[in-house]
Amino acid sequence: MDHEGLKELDSARIAGSYARSDVSLERGRGAVCWSLDGRRYVDFGSGIGVNALGYCDPEWVRAVAGQAALLQHSSNLYYTEPCARLAAALTERAGLKKAFFCNSGAEANEAAIKAARKYSFDRHGEGRFEIISLENSFHGRTMAAITATGQEGFHRFFGPFLDGFRYAPADDAQGLRELVSERSCAIMIETVQGEGGVVPISAGFADAIAEICAERDILLIADEIQSGIGRTGRFFSYEHFGLRPDIVTAAKALGGGIPIGAALFGEKCEGVFGPGDHGSTFGGNPVACAGGLVVLDRIDDAFLGRVRDKSALISGRLAAMPGVTDVSGLGLMLGAGLAEGLDAKEIAAACAREGLLLLTAKERLRLLPPLVINEDEIGEGLDILDRVLGDAKSCAVKGKEFPCGLK
Ligand SMILES: Cc1ncc(COP(=O)(O)O)c(C=O)c1O
Repeated sequence: MDHEGLKELDSARIAGSYARSDVSLERGRGAVCWSLDGRRYVDFGSGIGVNALGYCDPEWVRAVAGQAALLQHSSNLYYTEPCARLAAALTERAGLKKAFFCNSGAEANEAAIKAARKYSFDRHGEGRFEIISLENSFHGRTMAAITATGQEGFHRFFGPFLDGFRYAPADDAQGLRELVSERSCAIMIETVQGEGGVVPISAGFADAIAEICAERDILLIADEIQSGIGRTGRFFSYEHFGLRPDIVTAAKALGGGIPIGAALFGEKCEGVFGPGDHGSTFGGNPVACAGGLVVLDRIDDAFLGRVRDKSALISGRLAAMPGVTDVSGLGLMLGAGLAEGLDAKEIAAACAREGLLLLTAKERLRLLPPLVINEDEIGEGLDILDRVLGDAKSCAVKGKEFPCGLK
């Protein structure tokens, strides 16, 4: 099948919920992938923060293929070793106690919300069920996760949404305090808002959250689905802020490219789920967990140090590019603001035509390269971005339609 044939089949048969780029991908290696028609791309998106070890890391492939050939699935009626070992490795890294496995980020947040409500019910009785999340947040697409998402644009069409959710202005400690009441059971945050434009919270706001949670036995849920598993140069991004969440959710990079999600529970809520309280047929699948074990094993302190070095390299060059107004984010989760007249989606589309895959978040560019990307690949990708931005800026100055100077 060629690119045009695939596009035709896809648009005829796939529900229209995705705005696809004009790229079809067939294979990849490290931070580079190739399309059906043989075009080569440097990937600064990692499948939206998933392929932390890049495409088809040999050790990861061996583990996943080996487990698929041994036992591809059992069910949660039985014990399997990869599942228990991944739970141990993850909870040790987080300093938490227990893991619940599922298949995606939204499901991990569902588990976290249910766990927080049940903790509150068990300990404080009925009526204490409110989850406070932040404006501009993103927590996923299931009904509870979309309700928790603090963006008006997501709260259309699908109502009625769930009761018991409130939205605090991000980075406004007083505003958050005013929302907290005897009905509050949890505060749910991304320490770096990814879909919201790659916006970290401030240290002062993080301190205020910790204080409010401690004062009133409110659980802190850290959504680390995009920012976790080494993405920001720490294993979890809340570590940058000295926070100690009661529940941590992870997904995306956790399986290295195989669907998996996890909700991790600390001391307060380690015993909150009993048999039948929650579940997922595929949760803890041995193939996904075998992939996750390789990811966790590779992301040690030296690896995280390299993520921070690469971050400094990329953000330094990015800040000096034409049309870039500011650089935000931590580690290899970076955002770039654009000067007036430059459109992030158009820039990303032009980059794809030039051989660089790039993401956007709101009106900003978003970079989530594989954590293993090397300096040559970084240089190659940034050269393309620099060229595209230079052209976009000169088109804007000349009042011409973009692109105007690219071949
Ligand atoms: C912070 C955050 N939470 C939750 C989700 C939802 O994850 P999933 O798409 O795996 O359900 C995402 C996805 O982008 C995310 O960035």
